[in-house]
Amino acid sequence: MVLVSAPGKVILFGEHAVVYGKPSLAGAIDKRTHVNLEARDDDIISIESDAAPQRLSFSLDDLVSVEGFPYVRKAIELAFERIGKKSGLDIKISSDFPPASGLGSSASVSIATILAVHEVLESEIPYGTLAKLGHKVEFEVQGAASPTDTAIATFGGILFIEPGKDEHKRIDVQLPLIVGCTGIERSTKVLVENVRVLRENSPEIVDSTIESIEKITRMAKEKIEKGEDIGDLMNMNHGLLMALGVSNFKLDILVYAARDAGARGAKLTGAGGGGCIIAYAPDKGAQVKGAIENCGCSAFESAITSVGVRVE
Ligand code: MEV
Repeated sequence: MVLVSAPGKVILFGEHAVVYGKPSLAGAIDKRTHVNLEARDDDIISIESDAAPQRLSFSLDDLVSVEGFPYVRKAIELAFERIGKKSGLDIKISSDFPPASGLGSSASVSIATILAVHEVLESEIPYGTLAKLGHKVEFEVQGAASPTDTAIATFGGILFIEPGKDEHKRIDVQLPLIVGCTGIERSTKVLVENVRVLRENSPEIVDSTIESIEKITRMAKEKIEKGEDIGDLMNMNHGLLMALGVSNFKLDILVYAARDAGARGAKLTGAGGGGCIIAYAPDKGAQVKGAIENCGCSAFESAITSVGVRVE
């Protein structure tokens, strides 16, 4: 039996633009997904999760064809392929944060599952390979995905991620962030597709919006490295995400509530359409958290963790 955990993430800057090859800046949060995995003597795979009403049980031959837990099944499939060995498995998943909320649950469960399968089948996987395989899981399940979420789930910390580059720049700082969640579940796949269609219809405007997000992300990296305020850049990034059509009424309410309560910057984080916002409020954390809760939403103060995926 093996227990593996991987952190969730917040995208600080660059979501959606990163799907078009631009950089992103993201950080691991101190909330994790836990994958408990045990090999079985038969050819049954059984998956259960705190976040799903029903356990899924099927034979090894049906791994690719059954419905449900697409990220976990794809992670198992790619891990078996790499190891060159299969086994029946009992998998139990629990998470410190809700799924489909923009906090990287699919990446963290994919990365933790790939590592756990390698552990129980006594095979080694370097972390660089693990991050790439996790990215492949997201890409194949969603049809489009950047390496951001899976890199963070693997390595932890704050990373400046440039698609296509093997090494990600690690930035060793702490950022006091408040995460506020709308409670609206959404699909990254649908939101990425919506931006693709918008770009097809208005290529010049969408491309220049994406380029502006890139400039903000590069500038934010420099400011964070120097310990400078990133509030204005977060606000501008949120405005550009609104222009891409991925914000909504509830996200905007939370963003403005956070700013009114003294946050220096606030923006949606992740794919948008629901999910969560992040607010940068180094001296007004409690007020900002209270203001989000007054909107009927949950909020928590999150520290960035340097701990990526690990065997517990
Ligand atoms: C999802 O957390 C962030 C997006 O940029 C998609 C991706 O990076 O794969 C919307």
